[in-house]
Amino acid sequence: MKYDETDNAREATDNSQQDRFWNGPAGQLWVTSQEETERHVGPFGDAALQAAAAAPGERAIDVGCGCGTTTLALARSVGATGEVVGVDLSNVMLERARESAAAAKLTNVDFRRLDAQVAPLDRQVFDLVYSRFGVMFFADPTAAFTNLFASLRPSGRLAFVCWQVPNANPWMALPTRAAMQFFGLAPPAHDAPGPFSLADPDRLRRVLTDAGFNDIDITPEISTLKLAAGQSIESWVQERLLMGLAGENYANSSVEIQSQARELLISTVEPYRVDDRLEMNGAAWIVTARA
Ligand SMILES: C[S@@+](CC[C@H](N)C(=O)[O-])C[C@H]1O[C@@H](n2cnc3c(N)ncnc32)[C@H](O)[C@@H]1O
Repeated sequence: MKYDETDNAREATDNSQQDRFWNGPAGQLWVTSQEETERHVGPFGDAALQAAAAAPGERAIDVGCGCGTTTLALARSVGATGEVVGVDLSNVMLERARESAAAAKLTNVDFRRLDAQVAPLDRQVFDLVYSRFGVMFFADPTAAFTNLFASLRPSGRLAFVCWQVPNANPWMALPTRAAMQFFGLAPPAHDAPGPFSLADPDRLRRVLTDAGFNDIDITPEISTLKLAAGQSIESWVQERLLMGLAGENYANSSVEIQSQARELLISTVEPYRVDDRLEMNGAAWIVTARA
C-alpha cells in the first residue's frame, strides 16, 4: 500500500476512535452503571472540585463531562449569576446529563456535544476549565490543552483529576491486562489515548507547559475503592470486560468464550474479595494550573 502522509497525520490527531467508543456499548454501560461509578470516582472528582474552588458568578467548562454529575456540582457552586458548559463526545451520556440538569431545575448549565481537542471554543471566556477523568483520551493532548487554554480568561485556572500509572490502579489494570491476554491483544503504548495517558507526571507537566499553562501543581490522591457493592462480582467483571480495551472482542465472542473470560477475571480479582465485594486501590493526580 502506498504511504500516505495525510492518513498518518489523521491517525495522530483524530479522536474518531474515541467518538465511536463513547457512543457505543461502553457509553451506554457508563450510563447504566452511573451509580456504581459515582461511588468510586466521586471522591476523586470532589477533591478536584475542591481544588477548582468555583465561586459564585464564574463561568466554567467541564471537559468530558459524561453524565454531568460534576457539571451540576459546578453549576451549584457558580450559582444563578454564573454559568457552566459541559462538553463531551458521547450523545447517550449527554442525554443523561441534560435529564439530570432538568430534574435538578438548574438553568445555568448547558451541555454541548463536541471534541474538546479541536472544537472552536469561545476565546477567553471561562474562569475555570475542570475535568473529572475526561482529559486522558485526546489523540493530541498538547493541541487539546492549547485549545482549552485559549478558552480561559487571562486570570483563568485549570483543575482536573486523572489516573496514576496502571500498577497503582489494580482495580482497572488487573482485569484489563487479563482480558487483553485472554484475547491475544498487545498492551497499548503507555501514552496512548486512554485512562493512563497522563499518568507520567513528567509528560503531564510537559503537555501543560507546552499548552501555555503556568504554576502547575500535581498532587496524589489515593483511596481504597469498594467495588461491586450491590451487584455480583461476575456482573462487575463483565462491566470491566465491556468497558475495557478488549470490549469489542468480548462482545463479539461466543457465549462459551465470554463465560471463560469472566471466569478468568473473577479468579484474577479473587485476592481482593472482602465478603461479597472487592476492595482495591485507586490512585489519581489532582492537577491545577493557571493560564
Ligand atoms: C472516563 S469518562 C468520564 C466521564 C465523567 N467526567 C465522569 O467522571 O463520570 C471520559 C469522558 O470523556 C469524554 N471524552 C473523551 N474524549 C473526548 C473529547 N475529545 N472531547 C470531549 N469529550 C471527550 C468521553 O465521551 C467520556 O464521557
